[in-house]
Amino acid sequence: KKWFAVIGDPISHSKSPAMHNAWYTEMDVDATYIPIRVEPANLREAVASLKLLGASGWNVTIPHKEAIIPLLDELDEQAAKMGAVNTVVKMADGKYKGYNTDGAGFVRSLEDAVGTVHRDKPILLIGAGGAARGIAFALLAGGYRNITIANRTVMKAEAICEELGTGQAVSLVEAENKLHQFAIFIQTTPAGMANGTLNLPFSLEKFPQDAIAADIVYNPLMTPFLQAAEEKGATIINGLGMFVHQGAIAYNYWLGHYPNTSNTIIELTAQLK
Ligand code: ATR
Repeated sequence: KKWFAVIGDPISHSKSPAMHNAWYTEMDVDATYIPIRVEPANLREAVASLKLLGASGWNVTIPHKEAIIPLLDELDEQAAKMGAVNTVVKMADGKYKGYNTDGAGFVRSLEDAVGTVHRDKPILLIGAGGAARGIAFALLAGGYRNITIANRTVMKAEAICEELGTGQAVSLVEAENKLHQFAIFIQTTPAGMANGTLNLPFSLEKFPQDAIAADIVYNPLMTPFLQAAEEKGATIINGLGMFVHQGAIAYNYWLGHYPNTSNTIIELTAQLK
């Protein structure tokens, strides 16, 4: 029997175990997936234990996505660029290799919602933290070439553009003033989170008609940003698709086929409503 895990701290809230176990049942795969709370001070020993006990793979969540990198045997090129790992795969030779499926999960969710016809459109990525970095690299790998990154700390946006080898870094005020120049908006700051009453780090006064607006947060499904964008007539995309697809891409690395994601998105949407 194969077994998988997700390590993080906290971990009890994670929806990954239920999602992966449901896929195993649905696809008749003889496997199980468990949540393991690992405190930062124990990461090294936890990873050694997972290897020793022969896990077929595991997901990595906050706060270990960066710290796990030196503890792995091999690192995927994209994950190395992103500087973060969310998926570990036991290879045929027994070595453990780190991947990052978060950004690709976002791109898949975007294309699920609006297709692939928007690749040349100007994108405004809001935020320049770990999540934005992963999405920026995945967008570029997916053929999206017109990327602007807006961040409170402009230097962090500049650093990502430099690593990308493309893109433009702007301040939130600059972005606010030319909001109408973009077609796709991707919100990655905590402004999207629960307790957030409409407390966006920027104003949507110049938000264009017929835009696409995505948030990476999925709890709540409707964030202040998405709400405001919808009021301006945007097509909105919540973070649930990104979550489900990052898991599905990991599943595919582990088991060699893609699970059914549309039912999962429908079921989780019902749970979160
Ligand atoms: P994650 O890994 O989820 O991306 P992170 O690396 O802590 O988290 O990044 C958080 C992002 O939200 C950053 O872009 C941060 O801006 P700074 O780089 O200037 O810190 C942004 N952010 C957080 N709180 C914010 C706020 N109140 N207003 C504007 N931006 C904020």
